[in-house]
Amino acid sequence: MYRPSMASIALRNAVESRRQIEVFDYVNSADAFTRAFGMRNTLKCLRALANLGGRIHGYRRVCDLGCGSGAFSLAFAYLADNPNLELHGLDASEIQLSLGEQLMSAARLPGRIEFERRNLPTQIGYLPDLTISSYWFCENEHVILDPVLFDLMVGREMLVVDYEKIIDRVANCLPRGFRILGRHSSSVDIPSALTEFVAQEKASVHSIHIGRMENW
Ligand SMILES: C[S@@+](CC[C@H](N)C(=O)[O-])C[C@H]1O[C@@H](n2cnc3c(N)ncnc32)[C@H](O)[C@@H]1O
Repeated sequence: MYRPSMASIALRNAVESRRQIEVFDYVNSADAFTRAFGMRNTLKCLRALANLGGRIHGYRRVCDLGCGSGAFSLAFAYLADNPNLELHGLDASEIQLSLGEQLMSAARLPGRIEFERRNLPTQIGYLPDLTISSYWFCENEHVILDPVLFDLMVGREMLVVDYEKIIDRVANCLPRGFRILGRHSSSVDIPSALTEFVAQEKASVHSIHIGRMENW
C-alpha cells in the first residue's frame, strides 16, 4: 500500500516544489497521498510515540483524529502491543478510511481497531484516554484557536504530530484547563530498506503531548 506510483511521485514533487502547508484532495488523491506520505508519517508518529515510553501500553481508549489512511493508528497499535486497546479512527474521507482499514487488516495488530466517517470537530460521545492526531490540525487551525472546539476534540491526554508552526500554535494557544506534558522535535533517520517508500534519508518530526489539569 505504501509502494510509490507515478501519481504519488508526481504529488510528492509538486508538494516539495511549493514548500507550503498543503490541503490535499482526499477524494481524488487518497491513494497517491498514502503512497507519497503514509510511510513517512508512520515513521514520524513512531518517533513521537517513543517519547511516551512504557506509558503507551496503559492507554485503552484511543481516538485518532483525521486518521486518514491510518499512519498514526498503525504506529500506535504496533508500539502499544495491547490486546485491550480500543482504537477509534475518525476521518471525513471514505476513501482514506477504506485504505486505513486495508492497512490495519494487513498489519494484524492486537486490539480492536475501527474507523468511522465523521466530519470533525464534533461530539464523539466519550472521553478517550488519549487522542492522537497527525497532520489534521494543520488543516483545521480554527480548532486550535477555539477553546470550545479544542475541548470537544481532546481526550484526557492528546499527542499531536504536525508542522513545527502548528505545534507552536497549539503550545501558545493552549486553553485554560490543559497543560503541556512534553514537547519534542527530532530527526528520524529513514532505514535504508524504506528509502524507496519515503524518498528521503531524514525526516524532521515535531510533536506535543498535552493533558487536562485535574479538578478543572
Ligand atoms: C494530511 S491527512 C493526515 C492523515 C493521517 N493522519 C496521516 O498522518 O497520514 C489529513 C486527514 O484529515 C482528514 N480531515 C481533514 N479535515 C477534516 C475534518 N474537518 N473532518 C474530518 N476529517 C478531516 C482528511 O480527510 C485527511 O484524511
